[in-house]
Amino acid sequence: MDKYNVGIVGLGWPGERHAEGVQGSGLGDLYAACDINEERREKFTAKYSPEKVFVSYDEMLADPGLDAVIVSLPNALHFPGTLKALQASKHVLCEKPPTLNAGQMRQLHAEAEQRGLIYFFGRQMRFSGAVQAARKAVAERRLGDIYFAKTMWVRSRGTPGGVDGWFTDRSRAGGGALIDLGVHAIDAAWYLMGNPKPRTVSAQTYQKFPQLVKAAVFDVEDSACGMIRFENGASVLFEVSWSANLTDDIPIGRLGTRELFSTTLFGPKGSIRVVDTLQLHPSVKIPPLSLFEDKDGELVDSELPFAPVRHEFVSQMQNFLRAIRGDEAALNSSVQAVLLMEMLDAIYKSSLTGREVSLSYL
Ligand SMILES: NC(=O)c1ccc[n+]([C@@H]2O[C@H](COP(=O)([O-])OP(=O)(O)OC[C@H]3O[C@@H](n4cnc5c(N)ncnc54)[C@H](O)[C@@H]3O)[C@@H](O)[C@H]2O)c1
Repeated sequence: MDKYNVGIVGLGWPGERHAEGVQGSGLGDLYAACDINEERREKFTAKYSPEKVFVSYDEMLADPGLDAVIVSLPNALHFPGTLKALQASKHVLCEKPPTLNAGQMRQLHAEAEQRGLIYFFGRQMRFSGAVQAARKAVAERRLGDIYFAKTMWVRSRGTPGGVDGWFTDRSRAGGGALIDLGVHAIDAAWYLMGNPKPRTVSAQTYQKFPQLVKAAVFDVEDSACGMIRFENGASVLFEVSWSANLTDDIPIGRLGTRELFSTTLFGPKGSIRVVDTLQLHPSVKIPPLSLFEDKDGELVDSELPFAPVRHEFVSQMQNFLRAIRGDEAALNSSVQAVLLMEMLDAIYKSSLTGREVSLSYL
């Protein structure tokens, strides 16, 4: 069976993981790589040996041998980078956040549909062994109907910079901790709940730690919290931060400061908690997947076993490439990306207006 020729634009941490995804997938070849930064290009080429290396994204897209593009650029370039690739008839996997707003994402959805191309947003954590096992437990109705979820990705100290400090610059990032970590945290709960349609949002963002940021521009939020209600009556409470004076119930993370990415789903028969242990310091032992079940009125705690996944980016790439082949549905679809961006838009709007926001697309 022929393999797909994949090109990656943006060769930072996620660009490298996607290269491993392509090379481990068995379904694609690492055909091209592109970055304007020479050091990044050289490091990437030495590690992954792509067939072709480009400085210009336009030149990479013009290559007739290229089938699919992975966009790992700074957030503000996700929309133009994805649109250009679709217009060049390439399938696209674009890193999170899908775009800067729902309007952009609706345009990409329409473009991909019209051209019969696959659009896929990067959310490798959906493919982890713990998340897949939690999703199965929910589908098998071990918890009953999920009525509530609590999700957080909080850091006490940990603002990302990126090349040139773009993460804290609204014009290049679109937002701060919410659009960066919040996408992961909200999607973690929403995906496990079966992607219900959001109805209303009440939320607040804050910027309270400018002294911790070294970048030249810092005009985004460093934390956010809020509540989303869904049409099936369920709700999600979320909390995210790059900076906060977190209390000692939050463990030490991989950066050596307090950090936790945890999602808990509540049902009448039980609750399930997924903790992303990759974010924890090696000395911290919290089980990745725990079940809290009602057994004849008694609450029984247990760890849920699951088959670990070798590399989340490999599993994600396999789903993307199989979706191109028409063998599987894309798990991280453009329809879901639109709804995710609708939720983020509503969160920012609610914070700005100080009011609950109804999602009016329905
Ligand atoms: N899925 C995840 O867990 C995860 C983790 C980290 C980052 N991300 C996402 O990946 C994206 C990139 O993040 P990063 O941390 O790698 O940022 P980064 O700043 O480290 O890397 C971005 C790269 O894009 C290159 N670039 C910028 N403009 C370009 C252009 N016009 N043409 C070619 N190359 C260009 C830069 O030179 C740089 O090497 C972000 O959207 C971020 O949200 C996802």
